[in-house]
Amino acid sequence: MSPSTVLEPPVTLSAAFTPRTRFCGDVDASVEGQTITVNGWVQVSRDLGGIIFIEVRDRSGLLQVVADPSRNPEAHRAFSGLRSEDVVSISGPVTRRPADTVNAALASGEVEVYPERVEIINRAKPLPFQIDDEADAVDEQLRLKYRYLDLRRPKMHRAMRLRHELAQAVRRTLNAAGFLELETPILIKATPEGARDYLVPSRVHAGSCYALPQSPQIFKQLFMLAGMERYYQIARCFRDEDLRADRQPEFTQIDIEMAFVTQEDVLTLVESLAREMFAVAGVSVSLPLPRMSWHDAMGRFGSDKPDLRYELEFVDLTDVFVASDFTAFRAPAQSGGAVKALRVAGAADYSRKELDDLQDQARAFGAKGLAYIVYAAEGLKSPILKYMSDAEKAAITERTGAQTGDVVFFMADAFVKACATLGRFREHFARRHNLIDPNRHELLWVVDFPMFDVDDEGRLSPNHHPFTSPRVEDAALLESAPQTALAQGYDLVYNGNEIGGGSIRIHQRELQAQIFRLLGLSEEEARQKFGFLLEAFEYGAPPHGGLALGFDRIAALLSGADSIRDVIAFPKTNNAACPLTDAPSEPSAQQLRELHMQWAPTPAKTPSKSKA
Ligand code: AMO
Ligand code: AMP
Repeated sequence: MSPSTVLEPPVTLSAAFTPRTRFCGDVDASVEGQTITVNGWVQVSRDLGGIIFIEVRDRSGLLQVVADPSRNPEAHRAFSGLRSEDVVSISGPVTRRPADTVNAALASGEVEVYPERVEIINRAKPLPFQIDDEADAVDEQLRLKYRYLDLRRPKMHRAMRLRHELAQAVRRTLNAAGFLELETPILIKATPEGARDYLVPSRVHAGSCYALPQSPQIFKQLFMLAGMERYYQIARCFRDEDLRADRQPEFTQIDIEMAFVTQEDVLTLVESLAREMFAVAGVSVSLPLPRMSWHDAMGRFGSDKPDLRYELEFVDLTDVFVASDFTAFRAPAQSGGAVKALRVAGAADYSRKELDDLQDQARAFGAKGLAYIVYAAEGLKSPILKYMSDAEKAAITERTGAQTGDVVFFMADAFVKACATLGRFREHFARRHNLIDPNRHELLWVVDFPMFDVDDEGRLSPNHHPFTSPRVEDAALLESAPQTALAQGYDLVYNGNEIGGGSIRIHQRELQAQIFRLLGLSEEEARQKFGFLLEAFEYGAPPHGGLALGFDRIAALLSGADSIRDVIAFPKTNNAACPLTDAPSEPSAQQLRELHMQWAPTPAKTPSKSKA
């Protein structure tokens, strides 16, 4: 073979190519003078006055290869025909770069290779977008259609590697703690987690469907009944719900269950797991994590997943207004609701329009308004001052600590509504005033969730899921005042995101049957849906509890991604479609026949798949 050889891609199928002796990212000055072979993709090609530089990219990084027409005309000719993402095998000696061209940003930045052999293994068509981090700005629909190209980007590689390392940290930690990694079925009878089910029609049982699991909840409890004692699974879950940046129709949970444990045992185990996972991303977490009751989280921060990276804490003024002349505040204060205030420093210079917009927003959130008092240099300004006594005004100023330049905002309503609505403004003000410190990592447990949510008609639905046990001291409330009963339920919260949730479970048949009754299930319905579970509780069910961590959410937050789609290899768009494979798609006539189904979709209601 001549000292420099250029091989075009084979026209016939051939597995032959010169295999690598080194990864690009592992080539450095320690192998200076050695002849190496790298395999990879052409990242960029630059023609600088006759000399052509290309960067070869593989999983490990980039390596610069230089074709100088005076040293090697054949390699130069080959390089001049190379396009981004052509697949190449290149051999040549490792040469130290001149000092002024060292690239400190590359692991291989001190060296370069002058090729003796250039093999074009496969060609790439002109790309729909460039494979670099600029592609973040590319339309997501296009990125998802060519996801295999999008995934070539170093940023996406880092995200996939982070997922891998997080999964390994989970396995390491839980294996060491005596957990068994076990699988649960995917074709199941529905598991109620509050979302819509994905259904799979059965061919064998005409007219029947399986559901895909919204979570492995029931099966992991059955594992506890089966004496496994400590189970985990990195489990795929399916929920047909409205999608957002932090929600996908299929997503991954780190699902955990333990027998003969108290809530304390579960929290201790999971927070040490969280510490190991966060360590993977270089975030150190000190334990034990702070805990906050659901009532405090709502009452002080207006959220069951409070973001504690900034202060903006509510001040409670309910007692101030129980006998007020201001009806809008007195009425909720007298009837068990709340009057909450939020002092926003430096908001006194908001324009009238901005204050009006906030009012409109509050009404759009379903609130009655967003009252405010401006602490202007010339005195207090507000449309509500006329309704208030001097003592009330003094109490507001004293309790909120408001000073000239501030605005105090108020929300008066039923407790949850007042808090949750003002909570949305708390987030707004944090962003508006740049109060979020990106270097803070605030993890906490929110505990003592209510057992039930209550709708306007007084109907109860589970706050978490129907298998959650009440606190022992609240069991009697299930009959007398179920809406006030608190659960042995807990959420793990990170920077204002719910990254995990779980509970101690019910393990007694009677209590489980009572909860089903409270949720409005007739005995017949309960038997039909969950008879197997009720029966299982009759054969010696141990006390048990657990939790599931949102794996995608954790990976997204730890990698600074805006959306969990950025840490899922092949995610769905926001309308649950896959632009790459064009799923979902229509079944064939034959499939329908086999499934004993007739097809009568109403296309008008089907959203266009082409929207991200
Ligand atoms: P839960 O429904 O709270 O609990 O789910 C646990 C965690 O999973 C994540 N998560 C999601 N992530 C992405 N896309 C979604 N659509 C999605 N839905 C939930 C969240 C959440 O905290 N079986 C119970 C757990 C238990 O009680 O042990 C369950 O599934 O981070
Ligand atoms: P009114 O005079 O009734 O229009 O109310 C005066 C101000 O109080 C307006 O800015 C309203 O948006 C606000 N407001 C009315 N009801 C409430 C409420 N329940 N909570 C907070 N602000 C309110």
